[in-house]
Amino acid sequence: MTKIALITGANKGIGFETARQLAQSGGVHVLLASRDRAKGVDAALKLQGEGLDVEALTLDVTDASSISDAAKEVGRKFGHLDILINNAGVAIQDGSKTVSEQP
Ligand SMILES: NC(=O)c1ccc[n+]([C@@H]2O[C@H](COP(=O)([O-])OP(=O)(O)OC[C@H]3O[C@@H](n4cnc5c(N)ncnc54)[C@H](OP(=O)(O)O)[C@@H]3O)[C@@H](O)[C@H]2O)c1
Repeated sequence: MTKIALITGANKGIGFETARQLAQSGGVHVLLASRDRAKGVDAALKLQGEGLDVEALTLDVTDASSISDAAKEVGRKFGHLDILINNAGVAIQDGSKTVSEQP
């Protein structure tokens, strides 16, 4: 049975490549989530062009209503989620501190 996977921040970078490789593994329908709908659609179209089972989903991880809307959409379309990859984020470093001292 096809598993349903959701990857946040997947329109570029590590999230995008994770979406590609997860879809390539087979048996997984990948929800490529992005905060910017247009960027997500572009990224999903690119992977669909490679023959992969990927669709765009809008989700801003800092916006509670966006998270709620995305969850409702997943529930309505699929009824469940098998895999969640919480990738979206930023790395904020203080250049004056060592790695172990970073807040
Ligand atoms: N690259 C590294 O060496 C490295 C090392 C350690 C950890 N990480 C972590 O791995 C993750 C991905 O890194 P990356 O290098 O692939 O970063 P990236 O290329 O900057 O991509 C970050 C992704 O997260 C999205 N994003 C940012 N804020 C968001 C929000 N509020 N809601 C939804 N999506 C949001 C971005 O969307 P937009 O395009 O709209 O900005 C983008 O799609 C991050 O959590 C990062 O901290 C990366």
